Amino acid sequence: MRTVGIIGMGHVGATVAYTLFTHGMVDDLILIDKNEDKVNAEYNDLHDTLARNDSYVNVRKQDWDGLEDADIIITAFGDIAASVKTGDRFGEFDLNAKNAKEVGADIKESGFHGVLINISNPCDAITQILQKTSGLKKNRVFGTGTFLDTARVQRIIGEKLGQDPRNVEGFVLGEHGSSQFTAWSTVRVNNKIALQLFSEDEQEKISEQSNKNSFIVAKGKGYTSYAIATCAVRLVQAVFSDARLYCPVSVYNPEFKTYIGYPAIIGRDGIEEVVELKLTSNEREKLQGAADKIKEHLEQLSK
Ligand code: 2OP
Repeated sequence: MRTVGIIGMGHVGATVAYTLFTHGMVDDLILIDKNEDKVNAEYNDLHDTLARNDSYVNVRKQDWDGLEDADIIITAFGDIAASVKTGDRFGEFDLNAKNAKEVGADIKESGFHGVLINISNPCDAITQILQKTSGLKKNRVFGTGTFLDTARVQRIIGEKLGQDPRNVEGFVLGEHGSSQFTAWSTVRVNNKIALQLFSEDEQEKISEQSNKNSFIVAKGKGYTSYAIATCAVRLVQAVFSDARLYCPVSVYNPEFKTYIGYPAIIGRDGIEEVVELKLTSNEREKLQGAADKIKEHLEQLSK
């Protein structure tokens, strides 16, 4: 039986739940939110699909004890309005740091011993707090991180070259936030080196566009949901099928001593391996800058 718990039933949590449900990717779903009315509504709406859904899914709500036997937990709590207002995902930090401490402690108490995938922002810092407070091993906790930003850059490059975005390889690294950067030395399109396809000016514009797009979407519809939910669902699939998917996620990096967007291999136990990249000195500087930003915020919190 494949069991997933989702903590935070806002637009993102609900889209993840709906996708897992309708794609037959789970047998058992546990929906959790502080807002009783919202969780009841999502529970009812999902149940109403059962007579037309391809497969049967058992759904439970507010069942913290049930998390003990869950395979995967997805955390998707937060208040995107605070990020949109400040123009930086750290706008949600105070609120979500508090949420993460509570949720992490509750996860620990439930006896959960599966894989935790965090979406809540600022993703890297919140993933770190959840790892500490849940008591789970570092490999069992990771965040969606720059998997999403990488998808956005793949899309932009794909559009510019008239290619399927899946033909674009390479990584956005660092913070899932304003200090993220495209590691152009890693980017290839149909095996062509992207550095030779775009001028420095174009590279800069593409990199900026990725982070901007999230705020354009969030301002237009009040939140972002499809892209991030699709990333989370892909990661769930990688864990369930032990796919050993090679992709950038928010992963603990011992060199930088923080969670940060970096490529890893995702399988049944979460992070199977962090894959070392040969970056240029400029890219390493940017990565260090992103790590410093994340760590500074976390240090402020502990004061
Ligand atoms: C996103 O980038 C808001 O972090 C979320 O879509």
